[in-house]
Amino acid sequence: MSFSIIHTNQYLPFNEALTLAHAGDAPTEAWLVPLLTCSDEEAERLFHAADAAREAHMGNEVHLRGLIEFSNYCHKNCRYCGLRRANRGVERYRLDVETIISTAREAETLGYRTVVLQSGEDAWYTAERMAKIIRGIKDATDLAITLSVGERDMATYRCWREAGADRYLLRIETTDPGLFAALHPDDNLEERKACLYALRELEYELGTGVMVGQPGQTAEMLARDVIWMHELGAEMIGVGPFIPHPDTPLKATSGGTVEATLRLVAVLRLVFPHAHLPATTAMGSLHPLGRERALQAGANVMMPNVTPTEVRPRYQIYPGKICLSDDARHCKGCISARIHALGRSIATDHGRVKRVKGKG
Ligand code: SAM
Ligand code: SF4
Ligand code: FES
Repeated sequence: MSFSIIHTNQYLPFNEALTLAHAGDAPTEAWLVPLLTCSDEEAERLFHAADAAREAHMGNEVHLRGLIEFSNYCHKNCRYCGLRRANRGVERYRLDVETIISTAREAETLGYRTVVLQSGEDAWYTAERMAKIIRGIKDATDLAITLSVGERDMATYRCWREAGADRYLLRIETTDPGLFAALHPDDNLEERKACLYALRELEYELGTGVMVGQPGQTAEMLARDVIWMHELGAEMIGVGPFIPHPDTPLKATSGGTVEATLRLVAVLRLVFPHAHLPATTAMGSLHPLGRERALQAGANVMMPNVTPTEVRPRYQIYPGKICLSDDARHCKGCISARIHALGRSIATDHGRVKRVKGKG
């Protein structure tokens, strides 16, 4: 655990906090903080409750989203990220329109029903060029498309939605104004929030999330992130540990832990019973069974890599990233075996978000 255990009158005892979480109470710091900072023994009960909620609301199927990392160019300088523009050590690449479409076709051949198109913030992919890719994939396949390409304006988000994009992932990273400003020299928290409001208005299936263990982050901040994501109406929430990259200004920081991230995954499952929660690659990169543990603490999604093997090693947002030398077929087999070993099955539908009135 990377957060200290805080006992003040402000916070409920663990048992009461878990009862409120179970009852579906609107999230407050009073019960979120004790769950996020609970002991290892208490955590077992928290994970068990989250796992039961996942089974009750989302079933035993795990949804697979094939991840295509199509460009590692980025004009931003987020202080934690290995792809930041100031990192001259990165050999940059861009996949062209046809390669991205053919990679998506391969993902469908492997049995995936969704592709996630992810990149740095790369203006080479103009609104029109990206729309061409989206239309190309929609014409050639029956895949759902998730975009994860950062901040753009409303007109661009609309153009891509009209071209057929179904979902969007844009992590808020943190809602704490001081921490956000310290880590994002190019960004403004209110503008990032406005992007998420715009995506919601355009009726994308809405994905966000945070990194756990950013330097200076506290359990109270994470609790407020959960409350904000609840107000937003997040439908997919990706959380992973921050892993310090040696070629970034944060290289000497300690980073996040699997244990702290698992507590957050479990809390999210209780607060958002119907959300899609991935067992993230960062979890698997920090611990060989990190993704499995997330799947047993509330998660119900995995994002196997389908990026062409030649360029995979160049998309190193953090060190120790798994699957860098594997090909898409190998990752499919690996992920399938891991899911089956847990007694779970692989979903065969598109895994769209469930929109349940008044529920997360
Ligand atoms: N450029 C887009 C964006 O920032 O939204 C999408 C790609 S970005 C590489 C995807 C996510 O990687 C970010 O939202 C961030 O949470 C995560 N990330 C970046 N650097 C990381 C690090 N050092 N450790 C763990 N996660 C990291
Ligand atoms: Fe670029 Fe995204 Fe990395 Fe920030 S997190 S530097 S926007 S790729
Ligand atoms: Fe890629 Fe296991 S998921 S090798």
